[in-house]
Amino acid sequence: MYKIVKKRVLNPTVVLMDIAAPAIAKKAEPGQFIILRVDEEGERIPLTIADFNRENGTVTIIFQIVGKTTQALSELEEGQFICDFVGPLGVASHVEGLKKVAVIGGGVGSAIAYPVAKKLHNLGAKVDVIVGFRNKDLLILEEEFKAASDRLFIMTDDGSYGEKGLVTAALEKLIKEGNEYDEVIAIGPLVMMKFVAQLTKQYGIKTVVSMNPIMIDGTGMCGGCRLTVGGKVKFACVDGPDFDGHEVDFDEAISRSSMYKDFEKHALEHHCN
Ligand code: FES
Repeated sequence: MYKIVKKRVLNPTVVLMDIAAPAIAKKAEPGQFIILRVDEEGERIPLTIADFNRENGTVTIIFQIVGKTTQALSELEEGQFICDFVGPLGVASHVEGLKKVAVIGGGVGSAIAYPVAKKLHNLGAKVDVIVGFRNKDLLILEEEFKAASDRLFIMTDDGSYGEKGLVTAALEKLIKEGNEYDEVIAIGPLVMMKFVAQLTKQYGIKTVVSMNPIMIDGTGMCGGCRLTVGGKVKFACVDGPDFDGHEVDFDEAISRSSMYKDFEKHALEHHCN
């Protein structure tokens, strides 16, 4: 059993939890993920590690309430326990040797972009962070991003905070201003990552995206998380979650991600009623 040592509600649908998991905290790196089960009957869900503290032995997860499991998780309080918490899984983000990077986060995906920006910043790279949200109320981790970047650009769809517009507009502006990035790292909704990758392809900038498809076993056995990358089948759980954004078949990933939407909605309604 894994104790919830801290809980913070970041916005109406996004929750942060620090989980006591010393063995995972010891080995975790940005880009890796865990798989958890809230209770013995629960489904297994993957969550990318948002932060970790090796000294305190805690792993931070940030999740959006989208279905039955995340709803049940959000109802747990500090001092309560999660049944299973397995990891770290997946390949850590490649950050060594990068000198100037643009890190893009979209919505709750920003939570995953944060540890990558932090690590790059700590390694001495110049880090421009662009985060996008629908509106001011959904903004998360502003102070954390300020501390983990050289420049932070906040975009909102409705202009209620930061600048009005999409993250791609901010990125293109920075590129046109002459910023030469070794790499762009984009983490967020599939559509956002697709358009970031399309943009950077035009400018020939290497782009890494973090894929978070449906996962079941997390060990490369079930095939649930398969993606097509560069015309080849890859498994996000063992080959990723980071992939070359110019090689990912986003249209296929978008279509696969919507396969269980109705089922998820039904399960959530059942849980809440
Ligand atoms: Fe089963 Fe990746 S989750 S193969």
